[in-house]
Amino acid sequence: MIIEPKTRGFICLTAHPTGCEQNVLSQIEYIKSKPTTEQPKKVLVIGASTGFGLASRITSAYGSNASTIGVYFEKPPSEGRPASPGWYNTAAFEKQAHKDGLYAKSINGDAFSNEIKEQTLKLIKEDLGEIDLLIYSLASPVRTHPNTGERFKSVLKPIGGTFKDNTVDFHTGEVKEISIEPSSGDDIKNTVTVMGGEDWQMWIDLLKSANVLTKDFKTVAYSYIGPSLTEAVYRKGTIGRAKDHLEATAFKITDTLKDIDGKAYVSVNKALVTQASSAIPVIPLYISLLYKVMKEEGIHEGCIEQIERLFSERLYANEVPLDTEGRIRIDDWEMRDDVQAKVLELWKEATTETLPSIGDLDGYKTDFFNLFGFNVEGVDYDKDVNEMVDIPGLQ
Ligand code: NAD
Ligand code: NA
Repeated sequence: MIIEPKTRGFICLTAHPTGCEQNVLSQIEYIKSKPTTEQPKKVLVIGASTGFGLASRITSAYGSNASTIGVYFEKPPSEGRPASPGWYNTAAFEKQAHKDGLYAKSINGDAFSNEIKEQTLKLIKEDLGEIDLLIYSLASPVRTHPNTGERFKSVLKPIGGTFKDNTVDFHTGEVKEISIEPSSGDDIKNTVTVMGGEDWQMWIDLLKSANVLTKDFKTVAYSYIGPSLTEAVYRKGTIGRAKDHLEATAFKITDTLKDIDGKAYVSVNKALVTQASSAIPVIPLYISLLYKVMKEEGIHEGCIEQIERLFSERLYANEVPLDTEGRIRIDDWEMRDDVQAKVLELWKEATTETLPSIGDLDGYKTDFFNLFGFNVEGVDYDKDVNEMVDIPGLQ
């Protein structure tokens, strides 16, 4: 079939297999251009199909020839209906990894559930025996609690007061003020339940009790801080409470890993266009200005550049550099004073008329469509493609 982008709000309902494959191959090429390292060797990535998780899987496999198991939640294709992008990404990754003689298998299902955890443990036991790294890169709006069956929804709301600032509709380029009502009721608790650290801890507890974690095992979850501009909706909003909880969980997990000298880290990553971040108000305007400044400074990175740097210069450096709160920082270039000062200046000038020149709206849009395999260089979108793609290592 011919597959075209079909957008609704900040999501795209279709995905292109060839474009997704091309994105994955480019990320693989990037990692192959870097020196090969010794670690990690056996890696479990939760949220492995898109964004930072996919980049973590690719960095593991092609940076140090690691065996990888990926867990993700993606929609398979059906006749005439393309799969979700993470499905095609995973298919492309596993196809290439197998060609290159790398172990790569995956599990598609709800990572929050006991069933998927048990299935993953079984696969680790059968095939790898143990793992030395677990990357936790879930971004989900909902979680069904495995013990009670209760379904929780996370919300993106400020806490304490109404938030008003500009945002951009990146499809139309319209810059306009939005107003978001503060959280109420159980909003904070629910968001923490979905995006906080409880599920990460559950994964570790299960795998630890089954003795499948190596000595010196490491685990990393991803967080975000960002500037004062987005603070009210992000870091000091409901999602920020969940990130606080995730960060606190890292210390708890490190405690539970003491006897195997294991360590849990949170890595604070840069703001990037992903399916998760395009849903957050204000962030698209911030990102389009940030991209402009970072590209001008020659310090722009995508997920793969970020994670390559995380592995080579942080996680597997002689000593893991941490901030005063004990976190890994790879948002260091985004948060540079000169970068933030420029973004703040641009923010004041940003209107529907000025944004195309003072911001990188095109870069934002390209990245957005790239997530779904569209607007990818070198792909012929007029060519018929088979939407029914299999994932070779899918269990
Ligand atoms: P993403 O949407 O690209 O990836 C989310 C992944 O989670 C996908 O692989 C998806 O299949 C998987 N997933 C979602 N629900 C699942 C479920 N129930 N079971 C199994 N898998 C499930 O998002 P991302 O932006 O790469 O986010 C990953 C992490 O990085 C998040 O914690 C996010 O907060 C953090 N982060 C993102 C940014 C950013 O700007 N995008 C910046 C810093 C940190
Ligand atoms: Na390499």
